[in-house]
Formats: sequence, structure tokens, C-alpha cells
Amino acid sequence: MSATETHDPNRRDFLYIATGMAGAVGAAAFAWPFIDQMRPDASTLALASVEVDVSAVEPGMSLTVKWRGKPVFIRNRTPEEIEAAKQVPMAELKDPVARNANLTSDAPATDVDRSAGEGKENWLVMIGVCTHLGCVPLGQAGDFGGWFCPCHGSHYDTAGRIRKGPAPQNMAVPTFEFLSDTRVRIG
Ligand code: FES
Repeated sequence: MSATETHDPNRRDFLYIATGMAGAVGAAAFAWPFIDQMRPDASTLALASVEVDVSAVEPGMSLTVKWRGKPVFIRNRTPEEIEAAKQVPMAELKDPVARNANLTSDAPATDVDRSAGEGKENWLVMIGVCTHLGCVPLGQAGDFGGWFCPCHGSHYDTAGRIRKGPAPQNMAVPTFEFLSDTRVRIG
């Protein structure tokens, strides 16, 4: 399946708060808009962590922010997307490890361990870099409704787990913490 077939550029992949950046969606795997939430008075600190207001990210929507020079996907999953991820037998996973920096390195790649955890399972926070050769995958795309990397055809599911294609690992979950229901600190 080609990138053209699996990615609808009209979809609301990203929530735009910054204006003038909307033209880049779907143009290329490397072109990704981001919202820079770094506090201008703490630029050094901000390299280590960023705080993001996710109050406007409704179920089914995603936000991409920049953290330590990389895109970070923050997705508010719908109940259907969560359920789809939960239904996947662990034996079907190409990479059975959660790759979640908030958990032990051997934590399994269950849906809850990939997400923000119990009570916040709708939130998925991941470094938006394909684990094959580092392209930025497209959201709400691919055979499993999660992400699709058009560079060499890797498909990730709605928990960001690699399901098909050459990528060897699930997309990495960075250290993060919800400071409130609407505010998350990454890093
Ligand atoms: S970099 Fe994503 S599939 Fe190769």
C-alpha cells in the first residue's frame, strides 16, 4: 500500500495552534509541523523538558511537539482505538517490549503499558521517529490505524507498536508525567 493510498492529507492529523504551518501536512515524511512549548525564559531547562497544554486535543486528535530536537506525538485515542490495541494478542506483536522509559526495560508491550497508564489510557505519548531509519511516520494511517512510515512501509498500531514492515521496535515512549488532566511534562 502506498503512502498516497494510506494517508489522507485532509485528515486532522495535527492540531494547529501556530498559524502559517498548515501547508506541510502530508507533503513528506520529513516535513512535520510542531508546536514549540518551550518557555522562552528557560531555554536551557526546556532542552531537558517541555510542558504541553493538551486541553484542546479531543479524542481522535493528535498533537506534535518538539522535544530535544525530536517530534513527540501526543494522541488522545478514541475508545475504539484503545479497544483495537487491547484486542491484539501479545503473541502477534513483533516487538513484545513496551519501550516505555517510565517503566522497567522488560515491561511488556500491553496497551496500558504503552499508554499514560490506568485512568489515562486514552493518552499516548511517543517519540515520533520510525525505529527503522528514523523517518517521521504519518498519524492516523496505515493498516492498523495508528501510524504509517512511508519511507519503507512500516505500519504501527494505535498503541504505536510496530506491526508490519521493516521497523524493528515499537516507537519509544519518553519519560513524561501528567501534571494535571490537561498538562503534560515531557522529559
Ligand atoms: S524509516 Fe520508517 S520504514 Fe524505514
